[in-house]
Amino acid sequence: IEVNVYSDADELSYKVALEIAGTIRSHASKGQNCVLGLATGSTPTPVYRELVKMHKDGKLSFKNVVTFNLDEYYGLHQDDLQSYHKYMAVHLFDHITDMDYSNIHIPNGSISEGEVQRHCKEYEYAIKAAGGIDLQLLGLGRMGHIGFNEQGTSRDSRTHMVYLDRVTRLDAASDFFGEQHVPRRALTMGISTILSARRVLLMAFGENKADIAARSVEGPVSSQVPASFLQEHPNATVLLDTAASSGLT
Ligand code: F6R
Repeated sequence: IEVNVYSDADELSYKVALEIAGTIRSHASKGQNCVLGLATGSTPTPVYRELVKMHKDGKLSFKNVVTFNLDEYYGLHQDDLQSYHKYMAVHLFDHITDMDYSNIHIPNGSISEGEVQRHCKEYEYAIKAAGGIDLQLLGLGRMGHIGFNEQGTSRDSRTHMVYLDRVTRLDAASDFFGEQHVPRRALTMGISTILSARRVLLMAFGENKADIAARSVEGPVSSQVPASFLQEHPNATVLLDTAASSGLT
């Protein structure tokens, strides 16, 4: 797996935005849709800022862009402030003027329990029907989750309902004004869904990601560190700032 370290997190984010923009444009030049897998959280916000800037400057069209988000909290409505629907609207989609909004896909956290299984299957089907994911953007959880695939998730998992770990809920507590308000469950693409993407970019910033970044990249491939499965992907790159790289040997 390729690992790139940048001293400047903004430069790293700019490089990621450039690759995404390049992928969108090369598909557009061939008259093809570009299918992006998107992440939320603090890590990718500067990437979305750069993409929005390129779009506002007239340098990047989203006409041919189809998106699939990794995950959504279960039990939240899409208008809830902490929902990933809201996050994506605020950080990206509300600023894009030429996107076909029917091309946006985010797991629906407000469906009933009885609908979950079918919804997850349909999400997988929609990804396939779109031609598969060309480029998947990922952040890294402190215990190694990608999407919301927590420790112990199988390599074969597809889009599914999960219980969130204590650490994940603690890390989200401030967004929800207290751990007790953080949803216990979420819908997420599975490990296998993520590994099916043709290109994968995993980003991590800061010293609190250093230990897990090292274990993900250099440790054994194991469901104890879900991100370690990316070592088996033929075209994945891990992008770290200096602090997040400090655990590498
Ligand atoms: C978000 C997601 C999560 C985050 C991870 C890191 O859609 O799938 O895996 O990428 O929890 O979160 P941040 O970037 O907030 O440190």
